[in-house]
Parts: sequence; C-alpha cells; structure tokens
Amino acid sequence: MAEQEGIALVDLDENGVDRAFRADVLDGLSAKQKAIPARWLYDDAGSDLFEDITQIPEYYPTRAETEILTDRRSEFAAKIAPGCAVVEFGSGSSVKTPLLLKAIAPAAYVPLDISGGFLREAAQDLAAKFPGLPVYPVEADFMRTVDLPAEVAATPKLGFFPGSTIGNMVPRTAVDLLRSMRETLGEGAQLLIGMDLVKGRDILEAAYDDAAGVTAEFNLNLARRINRELDGDIPTEKLRHIARWNDDFARIEMHLEANEAIAFSVAGQEFSMRSGETIHTENSHKFTRRSSKLLLEAGGWTPQKRWLDSGKRFSLLLAEATEPRKAP
Ligand code: AVI
Repeated sequence: MAEQEGIALVDLDENGVDRAFRADVLDGLSAKQKAIPARWLYDDAGSDLFEDITQIPEYYPTRAETEILTDRRSEFAAKIAPGCAVVEFGSGSSVKTPLLLKAIAPAAYVPLDISGGFLREAAQDLAAKFPGLPVYPVEADFMRTVDLPAEVAATPKLGFFPGSTIGNMVPRTAVDLLRSMRETLGEGAQLLIGMDLVKGRDILEAAYDDAAGVTAEFNLNLARRINRELDGDIPTEKLRHIARWNDDFARIEMHLEANEAIAFSVAGQEFSMRSGETIHTENSHKFTRRSSKLLLEAGGWTPQKRWLDSGKRFSLLLAEATEPRKAP
C-alpha cells in the first residue's frame, strides 16, 4: 500500500488523542459562531450512520445517482477513454463503483482514502467482484496532490468523485480540491463527479432531517465523539439536530442547537452555550446547471456532458482536464 511521503495521516498524542481533532474542536467551540469541520462526523459510528442515511426514504441523492449510473451505462462507455485507470477519491461504496466499472471496463482501479481500514475493505471487496482487474489502493489525503502508483503512469485516467461530496466543501476549498485532482490525474484526464441539485426547501430539509431520526443521530454522534475522545461532558440530551436551507449560500446547514443554557468542558477547557445557540457541523451545497459548470471551470476542468436522474434531482458531470478555450 503506497503512502504519501512526508504526510502523517493521523497524528496521535501520548494519550492516543488525535491532535488535529482536538485542535479543530477547541478552535471551533471558541469561535463566535461555534463550528466544527464536517470531516469529524465520520468516526466508525458516524460512518455506519451515514451508510444508514443512504437507505432512508427522504435521502434521495444515493438512489438518484445510482439510477444515473445504471441507466446511462452505454453513454459512459461512449464518452470515457477506453482502457483507463479509474481513480476514486474516497473508498468505493459497495454499489456505485461496481456500476461504473461494469459500464466502462477499465484497465485498473485506484482507490484513494485517508483511512487505511476503509481502503483495504473497499479494495478487497472490489478485487473479489472483478477478479481480473488490477487494484492499487493508495492511503493518502486526497485534498492534496497524490503520487499515483507507477503501474498506471502511462494509462489514461478517469477520476471518480460520486455522492456530491464536493458539496460538503465551501467553494474555495472545492476549487482547491478540483485543482489538486487535476494535478494528481494529469493533463487530458477525465473526471466523473456527482453534484446534487438545488430544489424545493421542503424536500431538502426533509432529506437532512428524516422522520426516523437517523440524520439527527449522525449529527449528535459528533458531540458524543467529543465526549468519548476528548474527555468532554457535553450534555448531549440538551442538544437538538437542526437542518436548514440557507438560500444565500445555496446549501443545507446542519447545526446542534442548545435547548437551554448549558456549560461543559472539553479537553480541560470550559465552554458555554446560550439557549438557542448552535454549533455548525456541516454544509451541503446544492448546484444548478450553471453553478456546477462554473465550479468545474474554476477548478481547471472543462465540462463535457451532464446527466440527470429521471426525477431531475441529482446530476453527474463528466469533465476533461484541458486548457480552456481562448477568449473569442
Ligand atoms: C457525504 N455527503 C455528501 C452527505 C451530504 O448529503 O452532504 C453527508 C450527509 N449529511 C447528512 N446527510 C448526509
């Protein structure tokens, strides 16, 4: 398994505490608008809860994207370079990756993930499903440029970034990521990327605040994780999950709101929240045809094709790393 040179993927202190997690939480709880980066939602319990979210009736993105990958397979085969290496940013999910691999018959599969555990599981799973396909897992932080295995150096590349995960980043970070993907994959590569669409507030807010309360558990797990890993005593029963559409930024925001005034400590530091005060825990940006293409262009990618599901809820875009057309 290749590892990026010089990058410590997880930096634990002498008590086994993830230093970056502690720094982000202490910084975030000290800010005027309390906020913790969404990546910390995904410990083992959070990752399992996210898998559950993809199955709930209100959360349409996974089903809509799977429908596109199933129904448009012959179009992918026509548009994507034959014999390419598929480089997936994040370990392959059990359903979507096989659909793509079946549609385009690639020469190799290269999953990139910061978590060695998920990476190994996904790689073994895929290798079992596609016995003849070479699989080269790379443990790396794909927010930075990654050195791909020498075995695929001369193979055309297709980046795959499904799920609208790009929407969890603010535009600046999303552009940085698209640019490092371009660096990683090289000139002439293609990128197949999922982007969820702007739609009615009711549908969006329900997708992020389901009746069964699975998304609420996913959000509250972050506060529980802080208590578990950072010696915290946040009274989680006094926090409630909020999902609200922010029209100015075209995004769903998740927050944890205090039901009453509370005080607590985390890693030896004291914090308090007024009744109604929130901790902002996630953004999920939604896109229009224009904003999705603009974002790709800003990241150095030329849009080639855009597919929607039958309900017009979700988009999958194909783009190419080519020089932009010169001004007219
Ligand atoms: C992983 N990501 C694309 C999900 C989303 O839809 O933004 C995370 C999620 N948060 C709450 N529900 C799902």
